[in-house]
Amino acid sequence: MAMNGPLLEVKGLGVAYPAAAAPAAVKDVSFSLNPGSVLGVIGESGSGKTSLALALMGLLDTASARIAGEARFEGRNLLGLSEREMCRIRGSGMAMIFQDPVASLDPAMRILDQVAETLRLHRGLGRKQARSLAAGELGKVGIEPELLAAAPYAHQLSGGQCQRAMIAAALACGPRLLIADEPTSSLDVTLQAQVIVLLRERCRQDDIAMIFISHDLPLVSTIAGEVMVMYRGEAVEYGACGQVLTNPSHEFTAEMIAAVADGPERGGATVAPA
Ligand SMILES: Nc1ncnc2c1ncn2[C@@H]1O[C@H](COP(=O)(O)OP(=O)(O)O)[C@@H](O)[C@H]1O
Ligand SMILES: [Mg+2]
Repeated sequence: MAMNGPLLEVKGLGVAYPAAAAPAAVKDVSFSLNPGSVLGVIGESGSGKTSLALALMGLLDTASARIAGEARFEGRNLLGLSEREMCRIRGSGMAMIFQDPVASLDPAMRILDQVAETLRLHRGLGRKQARSLAAGELGKVGIEPELLAAAPYAHQLSGGQCQRAMIAAALACGPRLLIADEPTSSLDVTLQAQVIVLLRERCRQDDIAMIFISHDLPLVSTIAGEVMVMYRGEAVEYGACGQVLTNPSHEFTAEMIAAVADGPERGGATVAPA
């Protein structure tokens, strides 16, 4: 599709869970994302990061969540689409990977079949073609056919391998936007670094834009060009990564930066800067 302007433009996005009798989870959040660029979304637990991601993907239960604002993806407002239209965009337009890869995979279905299934669902491929393409996608993330022959199910693979398989499933249909919601926080430090490098390379190669959600500031700065800081549902900071990190305008960001500088035994992943 010929594209001028941003891939995604979010204006005044709000998410509230009325039954929870708490303040809104996401309040008046606006940002835009150009094709192929990476936005880091950072904030402490409960700041609304996952609610934001799920709203964009159309994965919030509309019976319990109230969504306000606008989110234009390639010009179309996602928030007004039917489940059927959204289903068409998920997978081939935008895809998401989650924090816990093992829980995101079906324990009773072979991993190869799960990736093939997304290809069948979103691209209407036949079984054989879908399986062969799925094997290729898994190979690209380092899950080789020999490994899947010996260990076809999720519980037979490590957490890092499962997250790689999730990445393959998410990227199989060629999305223009990937939302990664704390994709490495359940992995140990070495695997974190490997998965980050993989995500970065794949997005670069295929010109995929990414919203990378994390609570790990140093990690975000290795992968994102721009960063948005969320605090109690609000985007309190938004701009170029270097600018925000050297010249934070909100107290919470400054505290986060100071905490990183103070803690040499932080235990985060070590990834070379982009
Ligand atoms: N389905 C839900 N129903 C009610 N409250 C929710 C639901 N999901 C999230 N919340 C609340 O919304 C706020 C933001 O949560 P979340 O979006 O998960 O933040 P984060 O991903 O930054 O940890 C929290 O106060 C959380 O308890
Ligand atoms: Mg979350």
